[in-house]
Amino acid sequence: MKKNERGLWATKFGFIMATVGSAIGLGNVWKFPYITGVHGGGAFVVTYLVCICLVGIPVMLAELIIGRSTHQNPEGAIEILASKKSNWKIIGYMGIFTAFIILSYYSVVSGWILSYIGKSILGKFNANQDAAQIASMLATLLQNGTLVIVLHFVFMAITTFIVMFGVHSGIEKASNILMPALFIMLLGLLIYALTIPGSLSALEFIFKPDFSKLTPKAVLEGLGHAFFTLSLGMGAMITYGSYLNHNQRLIPSAFLVALLDTVVALIAGVIIFSIVFTFNLEPDAGPTLIFSTLPSLFSQIPYGNIIAVLFFISLGFAALTSAISIMEVVVSFFIDKFHWTRKKVTISVGFAAFLLGILSALSFNVISEVKLPLGFLFGERPTFFDAFDKIASNILLPLGGLLIAVFVGFKVKKAVFDRELTTSEKKLVPIIKFILRFVAPALIGIVFLYGLNLTHPIFEYLGIE
Ligand code: TRP
Repeated sequence: MKKNERGLWATKFGFIMATVGSAIGLGNVWKFPYITGVHGGGAFVVTYLVCICLVGIPVMLAELIIGRSTHQNPEGAIEILASKKSNWKIIGYMGIFTAFIILSYYSVVSGWILSYIGKSILGKFNANQDAAQIASMLATLLQNGTLVIVLHFVFMAITTFIVMFGVHSGIEKASNILMPALFIMLLGLLIYALTIPGSLSALEFIFKPDFSKLTPKAVLEGLGHAFFTLSLGMGAMITYGSYLNHNQRLIPSAFLVALLDTVVALIAGVIIFSIVFTFNLEPDAGPTLIFSTLPSLFSQIPYGNIIAVLFFISLGFAALTSAISIMEVVVSFFIDKFHWTRKKVTISVGFAAFLLGILSALSFNVISEVKLPLGFLFGERPTFFDAFDKIASNILLPLGGLLIAVFVGFKVKKAVFDRELTTSEKKLVPIIKFILRFVAPALIGIVFLYGLNLTHPIFEYLGIE
């Protein structure tokens, strides 16, 4: 996956692996199962799949087109496609802000994974412990605010270090091995999970939709997650597209990345809910879900300890490849814009994101009772951790995606489409434009209106309610 000059991916495989590496991360294995649990299963999963197809894939295509046609960072790309003074550049600025917020709490959760790598190496998940004891391990960790901050620091330091030195050599070789390793392990665990008693309930929970359980908030979360899991809405795919040469067909690439990402999320979901229903755990436990369930499985199966070590290392690695892609968006912007050195920018960004992340790290202990007055948006008042995640994933990413869709749908010239798509792909241009211009923006708009509790004041104003 070498870059030459400004940079091009060396191989098609390299581009797909890097993109998949950015897409597959905590979003698939940690977040997808937990929000599916919180929102009651099947109907939420259907919503998420619809959002992936109708909004996610088209926006991914739009980002890749912006990136590849300009070979620039998000802000520079829009300058070329629109104009230097264009207000569309707000897409770039918003993306950088969003990336910074996501990086801060992503690193906190990744820190929990570091602790679980340690626990599994020490053989803490064994048959002497029952599911309840294992489930309580995370609570014990989370009560220790200092340790959580230290782990968050360590993860941020590793990310910073790699972004500073070797994104394009070591990390990519490692991810070529570890991403497939994670995939194979998930497949193995899936086969095992399908043999345990809770698996039928799990399949039913995930694949049998009960739409009466679906709330507007759940739909918003599904949309937000479609963006989060595909790394969309803040320019990461513009950046990755900018390193892409013209041998690669964009439409099949967008489909392939979305497919692999979705498959991994669904497999993780089936595994985790099989465990939940086998051991009578709570499906709606929230952000702690995978940490209280997976180790129970590892404690039961043959060679569970070794599998646990390998699993948490691969998951940590998947988190790292994603965190790198998030940090890189912020770092490349400051380098391009202010011509600071990479070293200086990376350390500053890493340190600032670490400081902001402390608020998330403490949201589970010292300041767990501090709830932000954002109830008007989200229904319940969120902790800092929840607020960062919800503001970034459920508001800023979809908003960024909406602007990107409208920008490419209306502003980008036909010549650009002609250049970026092959003859057979071009047949789809009318459909793509229709989706980017109308379908995606309308869906995002409607979901915002209902999911953010915005309907109430509007209806009141109109005298409808
Ligand atoms: N997609 C990653 C995950 O699922 C997270 C991520 C990486 C991301 N880059 C991003 C999310 C850019 C939003 C935007 O874990």
